[in-house]
Amino acid sequence: MIFEKVERIMEKTGVQAIIVTDPYNIRYLSGFSGGEGYLYISKFASVMYVDSRYTLWAKSECKECAVETTGRQRYKEVNDRIVKEGIENIALEGKHLTYNMFRELSEALVCKNITALSDELEHLRMIKSAYEIERIEKAESIGDEAFTYILGEIRPGMTEKETAMLIEMYMRSHGADALSFDVIAASGLNSAKPHATPSDKKICNGDFVVLDFGCVYEGYCSDMTRTIVVGKPDGRQVEIYNIVKTAQQAALDNIKAGMTGREADAKARTVIENKGYADCFGHGLGHGIGLYIHEMPRLSLSSDTVLESGMVVSVEPGIYIDGFGGVRIEDAVVIQNDGVRNLTKSCKELISV
Ligand code: GLY
Ligand code: MN
Ligand code: MN
Repeated sequence: MIFEKVERIMEKTGVQAIIVTDPYNIRYLSGFSGGEGYLYISKFASVMYVDSRYTLWAKSECKECAVETTGRQRYKEVNDRIVKEGIENIALEGKHLTYNMFRELSEALVCKNITALSDELEHLRMIKSAYEIERIEKAESIGDEAFTYILGEIRPGMTEKETAMLIEMYMRSHGADALSFDVIAASGLNSAKPHATPSDKKICNGDFVVLDFGCVYEGYCSDMTRTIVVGKPDGRQVEIYNIVKTAQQAALDNIKAGMTGREADAKARTVIENKGYADCFGHGLGHGIGLYIHEMPRLSLSSDTVLESGMVVSVEPGIYIDGFGGVRIEDAVVIQNDGVRNLTKSCKELISV
């Protein structure tokens, strides 16, 4: 079964075996969530190689491959197998091997005919199964609940760090296994930094607060952003907020399978550009979401990837103005043939707390 998933990649690259080292690709192909070890795949066998700390763990999760425990020389056992199977050429993951790992591996293997994969395995992960979408949807629903919760807690005088901690605690105590990434809680001028780290800054009356967070549920990530205002918004805050909201809605209404990531990005970007804020939207519109928080496909100015039904992506336009503040609104959606299905349910009116 694992071999069948990668058979076409092997044919195209002309190799007889692949050694997978990226933890997310390992999990996708084998089910093993331990994050250590490597997966060997050939037409003769699929074997998860781990050290003894992970043997029982891997055996409990790997349903479609054998598990072997490595000894003091990490790649001896796989080399023995390669010799036994008569493998003459092998692929490694170019993006996921450090120079040191590559050197160690290539010195240990008798097979010196080594090809680097680029992102062929990440491509496999782009289209999600119903099983995967269910888990992303559950993770997203925990995020929605956390947003409702924080609206009841956040108040002037609370620091960004405290706000982020409360969101994290809520998600972890309501079913999340982990965070998809560190919670972003950026208030006032900090909200102009798309990826701010929560600071000791106290949230003040008049601040925009960008809350960007997600959690992991049974391996799968969620990702959402809402921007709220503390106290009564001023005219410029309302203007900026509404442009981002309109841009996001234009994307949600028009993105569908068959368009490229660049065309999808343009659905929101055009709205922001037409309002004169082109320079204030520096990042792409979105990214794939799955086992990892930022996966393929990208929705961006440079993405030629054609969107297909079953991909799960974020739709997250923003306007960031240095010295004023920023707004981002982000949902996670499933691409369908006729549009998108939104997995994020939280309110998008400008909420004042
Ligand atoms: N903070 C991660 C993201 O929204 O992409
Ligand atoms: Mn996000
Ligand atoms: Mn995102």
